[in-house]
Amino acid sequence: MRIDILTLFPKMFDGFINESIIKRAIENKLITINIIDFREFSSLKHKQVDDTPYGGGAGMVLMCEPIVKAIESVKDDDSLVILTTPQGKSYNQSVALDLKNYKHLIIVCGHYEGYDERIRNFVDLELSIGDYVLTGGEIPAMVICDSVIRLIDGVIKKDSYMEDSFTDNLLDYPTYTKPADFRGLKVPEVLINGNHKLIEEYRKEEQRKRTEERRPDLLGDKDGKD
Ligand code: ADE
Repeated sequence: MRIDILTLFPKMFDGFINESIIKRAIENKLITINIIDFREFSSLKHKQVDDTPYGGGAGMVLMCEPIVKAIESVKDDDSLVILTTPQGKSYNQSVALDLKNYKHLIIVCGHYEGYDERIRNFVDLELSIGDYVLTGGEIPAMVICDSVIRLIDGVIKKDSYMEDSFTDNLLDYPTYTKPADFRGLKVPEVLINGNHKLIEEYRKEEQRKRTEERRPDLLGDKDGKD
């Protein structure tokens, strides 16, 4: 998969692409990530990318031209163009599983008070990572990339993500490691005695209990409950 990220703040992505699993996925050629500064596509003096809103109001608005030109510079027939915005469709694991199937994602990071409404004509999908407002779309872009990249074959072990929270609309089961007793807090006996069938049953039941207690809304969605 190739991912092009269009942003005014390319340096924000330095840590993201140069550490841990994402770095390894790039080195292993499982993904390519290009960070594109769309300021470079401004034809105005001083590379201006925003202006005051028509009709008045606070703040500056991102202009169409640099963003649309930047999209056009990388777009081809396989591309899906995504805009990060609090007004977008709610992002979740099932959207991540869908995005995983694309060959090429272009993610446009919004900024400041907003962007010219006409930019929407040049994107395929608008995504929000939650009902709160961030200062810009860079963190949402990283959230989307990270959650999609870890699903790509070869990036992490497949069983790791098949058991993730939200797969089958259930939260993940609890896990433990050594020691078996930490300050009187004991690892459940069933996990220690090595009976795989019992362990599987225990984990399924814990998933159900957890989801019921913490996220009953997920069970309402029905496909997942066993
Ligand atoms: N930009 C600012 N806030 C956002 C959010 N919650 N989701 C996606 N993009 C955003």
